[in-house]
Amino acid sequence: MEPVMKKTDVVRAILGERFHMTPSHTVGKAFAPTNIALCKYWGKRNQELNLPVTSSLSVSLGDKGATAEIKIHHEPEDMIILNGESVSSNTSFSKKLIAYLNLFRPAGMRFHITLQSNIPIAAGLASSACGFASIICALDKLFDWKLAPQQLSILARLGSGSASRSVWSGFVEWHAGIREDGMDSHGEMIAYSWPDLCVGLLILNQQEKIISSREAMQCTVQTSALYAAWPSTVNRDLQILKEAIQDHDFHRLGCAAESNALAMHATMLSAWPPIQYALPETLLAMQTVWALRQAGVPLYFTQDAGPNLKLLFLKSESDCVRHSFPAIDIVQPFICN
Ligand code: DP6
Repeated sequence: MEPVMKKTDVVRAILGERFHMTPSHTVGKAFAPTNIALCKYWGKRNQELNLPVTSSLSVSLGDKGATAEIKIHHEPEDMIILNGESVSSNTSFSKKLIAYLNLFRPAGMRFHITLQSNIPIAAGLASSACGFASIICALDKLFDWKLAPQQLSILARLGSGSASRSVWSGFVEWHAGIREDGMDSHGEMIAYSWPDLCVGLLILNQQEKIISSREAMQCTVQTSALYAAWPSTVNRDLQILKEAIQDHDFHRLGCAAESNALAMHATMLSAWPPIQYALPETLLAMQTVWALRQAGVPLYFTQDAGPNLKLLFLKSESDCVRHSFPAIDIVQPFICN
């Protein structure tokens, strides 16, 4: 059955008359941070619009993310430059990006897009989230649409669900919403800062993902018996995380984030065919975290659709964490560099 509402309907509803505007500037440029979910988005209620089954909560990673620069291209095809190299139009990356740009381009218009990212692409570090968020913000500037952040969040979601959270820095909650057109499914900034909070990016393996998060979440929803418990797990974890953020209660934040990630991966392990993103090095790193915690170090992890971990700790533990994980890249999401 055809989805009731298409992506183009959402774009037209948000842009209205602005859809026919010609660019006001010669270039639109914007940065969007990548974000790490502390309570995960896993499963859609609408595949076409990337509408989630549950709400989710993330922290954006300061200056780690993507910068998009978009100009009009006076050639028959779009030109895409990723980290300084032109990307052929038949790669899956370009196809996804061109399909997204097709939603916004006035007839016949072509774009020259330069995307510069300072995080490893496809290493499970939410590169598509900051990619789509930076692109929609750059288009907003190019055409001078002057959209509100919540509207940008809805449009970023059409590219990738988690991109709806990358429109803001700091803590962000993405409300699942209940509407069929998804107009109530957007991010919202949680206005609490936590300067001492650290996220350590632990790259354990740079291989391409075994299966995309998109396919993996669909397979999980369709086949995992444990998925039935996921919405109530999220409701509980979201509540705890919001309280922990308000109270700066690091222990509660860490426990809820780690437990939520493990619950998400448990739903995948019980899917069929089973999905396991962890590699031996992932399990070893988890055991090191647990051993350190046993020894009194307040250290937690979260894991997304890949083998790499993100460690959560406070600044006072940085030396200790670096000692155990020398290759770690430490980010303080609330401190500008
Ligand atoms: C595990 O946002 O990449 O990182 O909406 O299909 O593009 P699509 O999925 P995507 O999924 C992210 C999944 C996750 C958890 C999260 O970021 O909340």
